[in-house]
Amino acid sequence: MYYIVNSVTDSRNLILVLCLLTVVIHCIKIIPERSSVTYVNDVYFSDVALTVRRNGKRGDYIANLDLNAKYAVGNNVTIDVIFYEFLHNEYRRSFVELHYRACDLILKDAYLGLIIRKAGLVTCPIPVGKLSLKNVTFDIDLPSVWPFEKGKGEMIVTHTAKKEMMVRGEIVLTFKQR
Ligand SMILES: *[C@@H]1O[C@H](CO)[C@@H](O)[C@H](O)[C@H]1NC(C)=O
Ligand SMILES: *[C@@H]1O[C@H](CO)[C@@H](O)[C@H](O)[C@H]1NC(C)=O
Repeated sequence: MYYIVNSVTDSRNLILVLCLLTVVIHCIKIIPERSSVTYVNDVYFSDVALTVRRNGKRGDYIANLDLNAKYAVGNNVTIDVIFYEFLHNEYRRSFVELHYRACDLILKDAYLGLIIRKAGLVTCPIPVGKLSLKNVTFDIDLPSVWPFEKGKGEMIVTHTAKKEMMVRGEIVLTFKQR
């Protein structure tokens, strides 16, 4: 995982990146609120559903993902995660972006990858067929203070060689330092 800042040549931004990479651990609880699938390329996927619900009246908010993959997904697929801050009634793209190859994310990443592995997806490539991730919770230990409380995370899955979008979804999120 790495953080990208629009212009890393700007030294203030560079300092920001370095600060994000310091190893002080902060536990943050990420509460998913609602979700939507905003694009599906039916060459690659069908029956894509991303939902958020509460486990019981007082339980955790959890996310469920279901999809049917028509091609295997391995490191030939890029996953970009872009965070937006909710500010003055609109979502503004923040400086936090994560970029991965699919199997590197699923098998090795210590943050989002850990969330995915905890949800039961522990092997990669993802084979052709149905994939179902249930009861996904988002409590993570981050090596930085999260920069805002209200926002959304957008995930864009792309065929790397063809630069073709395969699927895109987003989840509205609240970030709570614990
Ligand atoms: C990715 O690579 C695997 C293994 O080589 C292949 O089976 C699969 O079809 C490829 N996926 C896509 C989306 O092209
Ligand atoms: C998800 O959580 C609910 C409530 O805790 C539980 O009843 C259900 O079996 C869980 N489902 C899976 C697939 O783990």
